[in-house]
Amino acid sequence: MSTQSDNQTASAVNRSSGWVIFVFFLIGLIASMITGWTAFPKLLYSTKEQPIDFSHKVHIEQLGDCRACHFFRDDGSFSGAPSLDECKDCHMYPMTGNPNEQKFIEEYIEKDKEVPWLNYAEQPPCVFFSHAAHVKGSDMQCETCHGDMGHSDSLREYQENRITGYSRDIWGYSMLPIGEAEHGPRQKMNDCAACHLKKTGSKGDCFQCHK
Ligand code: HEC
Ligand code: HEC
Ligand code: HEC
Ligand code: HEC
Ligand code: HEC
Repeated sequence: MSTQSDNQTASAVNRSSGWVIFVFFLIGLIASMITGWTAFPKLLYSTKEQPIDFSHKVHIEQLGDCRACHFFRDDGSFSGAPSLDECKDCHMYPMTGNPNEQKFIEEYIEKDKEVPWLNYAEQPPCVFFSHAAHVKGSDMQCETCHGDMGHSDSLREYQENRITGYSRDIWGYSMLPIGEAEHGPRQKMNDCAACHLKKTGSKGDCFQCHK
């Protein structure tokens, strides 16, 4: 009997020291996360430049309509970032002395190589997102989710979370209203769910947005 109760005491002690270690581990983890997220955001994100800069403003003056480059295909899928086919008509040969245009022609048009544009809003592979459901189905403006990118003079820098590898726009906890974050608009889970709640009265279940 007494051995059994000794064993019980011993394992209770083991268990409680396990808890103490776990609590210290948690405190350490939380402290380092707080430092990472609040005090040293620069350490948390690495910055990448787009392969070439691009002025939406200049091109909207030329083309008038977003759909010249971002359009829905016949099957309803969204074209996303433009391919060289959307540029070649005008940029087969240099027409300005602009260094961005020169780089674009030398490195991509002449080599017939697609530009590896960085997608600020790129979602993790487990997330399902459809432009058609939002833009066509619910008559939404591009600005609602992307901000006024379509009239900007240049492409802003892309910030990548060093831990997750995701774009800063999509990962992390949302604390500011949509569009008011200092790094631009965001497409985080909470932003999606907040709008769904507002528009439909329900946040939706996990499998609405996850594969
Ligand atoms: C001449 C072609 C062209 C036209 C016209 C154009 N865009 Fe773009 N757009 C681009 C290129 C190139 C990029 C860079 C690719 C990227 O960032 O994914 C881009 C990127 C974007 C992005 C960034 C997506 C992301 O998160 O990475 C948004 C939003 C966007 N365009 C909106 C618009 C809107 C709105 C209009 C109309 C007012 C428009 N564009 C017209 C070429 C064009
Ligand atoms: C309808 C013709 C037209 C199309 C299509 C077009 N461009 Fe342009 N692009 C121009 C003109 C005109 C200029 C020069 C404007 C100026 O300097 O005032 C220009 C300038 C540029 C420049 C230098 C200025 C800047 O934006 O930083 C780049 C880079 C460029 N274009 C890339 C692209 C890419 C990439 C595409 C395809 C996604 C594209 N263009 C499609 C007409 C076009
Ligand atoms: C409801 C929010 C929402 C609306 C409205 C919206 N987008 Fe997006 N957009 C996104 C999300 C989220 C992604 C990332 C999708 C992914 O990674 O699967 C994205 C990605 C993009 C990309 C980059 C795609 C790539 O493959 O590089 C472009 C360009 C873009 N959107 C342009 C537009 C334009 C133009 C409009 C208006 C016609 C628009 N978006 C409307 C949320 C939205
Ligand atoms: C500004 C509002 C808004 C934002 C932001 C938004 N959505 Fe939606 N979403 C809607 C509305 C409205 C519908 C249509 C609801 C319906 O028909 O019941 C919808 C529908 C959907 C659907 C169902 C599509 C279908 O084919 O039935 C999915 C999946 C979805 N959204 C995912 C997302 C994801 C992921 C994000 C964030 C990256 C997002 N949404 C951001 C408003 C929004
Ligand atoms: C309205 C759409 C939506 C709904 C509903 C939703 N999610 Fe998400 N979820 C997202 C988006 C968008 C992301 C990526 C952006 C981010 O991490 O904030 C994400 C990311 C995640 C991730 C991180 C994935 C990774 O690769 O890092 C997990 C885990 C997750 N969701 C779980 C859930 C669970 C569990 C539910 C149900 C309780 C749920 N989600 C409901 C849109 C949604």
